[in-house]
Amino acid sequence: MNQPGPRFWEIFFEVYESLPRQGPGNRACAARALALCRDLPQSPAILDLGCGVGGQTLQLAELVASGSIVAIDSHAPSIERLQAAISERGLVQRVSTIVGDMACPQQPRGSFDLIWSEGALYNIGLRNALRVCHELLRPGGCLAFTDAVWRKEDPPPAVKASFDLDYPTMGWLDDDVAAIEGCGFDLVGHFTLPDEAWWDDFYTPMETRIAELRGKYSGDVEASAILDQLAEEPRMHRRHSDFYAYEYFVARRPLAQTRPETIDALEQGTPADGLTPAAER
Ligand SMILES: C[S@@+](CC[C@H](N)C(=O)[O-])C[C@H]1O[C@@H](n2cnc3c(N)ncnc32)[C@H](O)[C@@H]1O
Repeated sequence: MNQPGPRFWEIFFEVYESLPRQGPGNRACAARALALCRDLPQSPAILDLGCGVGGQTLQLAELVASGSIVAIDSHAPSIERLQAAISERGLVQRVSTIVGDMACPQQPRGSFDLIWSEGALYNIGLRNALRVCHELLRPGGCLAFTDAVWRKEDPPPAVKASFDLDYPTMGWLDDDVAAIEGCGFDLVGHFTLPDEAWWDDFYTPMETRIAELRGKYSGDVEASAILDQLAEEPRMHRRHSDFYAYEYFVARRPLAQTRPETIDALEQGTPADGLTPAAER
């Protein structure tokens, strides 16, 4: 398949940046995942990786009454939008934003009580992301993240093609559990996002936005074809969502660390993604 060109990305972002979220998720699921993160301090230090425009960042700020949140995303316009919402809601003392790469987040090692990431870790490879999170969490700290997983064999060609493009290494629930445990975490719990978490803040506003842009770009053949392409994703979900799911995982970095495969890899010379041990700073 051809790589999407600049016009595709221009219209893609015109759709996605306007949405409350850039992936499936909702407040109820965030609250349920948070309830699994036991023994957090009263004012936890939280890191939100791949925050997008911050739908879940702002909900976390409400759900956790005090403490700090650092929200990182590589897409500057999304961070600008989140920053505006933070100012508008008077959250500047608690929530800060960074345009950056979550593979190399430049945050002190072991400095977070909770790492949150909805629909984003896969962008840098799940195991790589888990290794980064393990380094950034203090022992006993929690990781809550969502990830897409297969749930039925033999997906229709359109579904397979869509995930081959967006998430070619997507696995099954057991693969993610193996990755979590292999990277030195204890799995605390997991649950599947319900269908409304795909629609309320994501696909329903996406379809509304696409309809608006069809008006704006009427007569523009290239833009209309791109909008048709973007409209395929919610349509596919309506027809074939039994083949795949988004799973919420909550894991904990154990207090007494056994030797995860990632730590072995680090000691064999794999660079630590810009993470500086606290003692060396
Ligand atoms: C599917 S969206 C999810 C956004 C948000 N967490 C949500 O659920 O609404 C994935 C996000 O990851 C961000 N992203 C992708 N690769 C990244 C990277 N290497 N570092 C930081 N952010 C990244 C994208 O810009 C995008 O905002």
